[in-house]
Amino acid sequence: MNNIGVITSGGDVPGLNAALHAIVLTSSKRNIKVIGINDGYDGLIDGHFIELDFQKVRDIMDEGGTIIRTSRSKRFHESKWRKKGFENLKRADINGLLVIGGNGSLKGAEIFCRQFDFPVIGIPKTIDNDVYGTDYSLGFDTAVNTIIEAIDKIKDTADSTSRIFIVEVMGRKAGFLALHSGIAIAANAIIIPEVKPDTEKLLASIEHNWRIGNRAMIIVITENSIPEGGLGLKKIIDSKFPEFESRVTILGHIQRGGSPSAFDRTLASLLAYHATLALLKGRKNVMVGFLNGKIKFIPLADVGWKTHETDTLLMKIANEFSLLM
Ligand code: F6P
Repeated sequence: MNNIGVITSGGDVPGLNAALHAIVLTSSKRNIKVIGINDGYDGLIDGHFIELDFQKVRDIMDEGGTIIRTSRSKRFHESKWRKKGFENLKRADINGLLVIGGNGSLKGAEIFCRQFDFPVIGIPKTIDNDVYGTDYSLGFDTAVNTIIEAIDKIKDTADSTSRIFIVEVMGRKAGFLALHSGIAIAANAIIIPEVKPDTEKLLASIEHNWRIGNRAMIIVITENSIPEGGLGLKKIIDSKFPEFESRVTILGHIQRGGSPSAFDRTLASLLAYHATLALLKGRKNVMVGFLNGKIKFIPLADVGWKTHETDTLLMKIANEFSLLM
């Protein structure tokens, strides 16, 4: 193997550049050329390749986003476009591929690997932290810290104005972001998609707290937990208690940006280093994961079709501390 390709695919997260840095360093020490594939799988299909050398990555460790950009490619779902991507790799004499992606991208990687018997190794990244086979995915830790920073500020307003604040966080169908950040900011309630909320109990607790004067409440909710997310919850509270004052903050894409945390930079270096070495040693069709403090290789065939279960230990604490109890 003398040339390897790297793709960042799906939603951007902080830590992607740190991973690119590690891939280039690990490869160049072994005289392997790294080709960055711009714009995710779309760039693979369109042949948007660029060589990544030390000069390009030496100063990007602390930068959010990805210097080779990313996309959610619709075309890559179709066999004829994947074939075009494969032909581009062959033409560029690229013999192995590192895919830094979340569930959808890693599923695509597995299909590609199987279709063309091409060596691919996945590296997990998503602020949702819902990739199977790893305790942590790149970007999650930074996103949790971004949420905490934002809610600490919201708390000042909530306390000063005695209002209920509903903070909607990302996560798609996974509650990791809400759970981790909610515990860290001592939220009064945490609502995640994995657990059906007991609305009656929540309303009774909100009413009790409001009546005794504890009016500044923070409720952290994952998008998609209930219909209309945070706005849906406000409607429920407003219709029962029109005299209570509440506000909704939807944090949105702010959660995906910014300089990666120390944890994400280290995790990116660790995962990318091991993924690169494994690819150079001839491994394929696996994702590198960080599981129980150790590096593990998990078949991509498992990753794409299984889910990372919610942290039951944290759910227990969240319940203990919540208004919902
Ligand atoms: O998967 C990461 C994520 O940020 C989810 O939390 C969110 O639901 C989704 O991506 C948003 O996607 P987009 O940036 O395409 O709107």
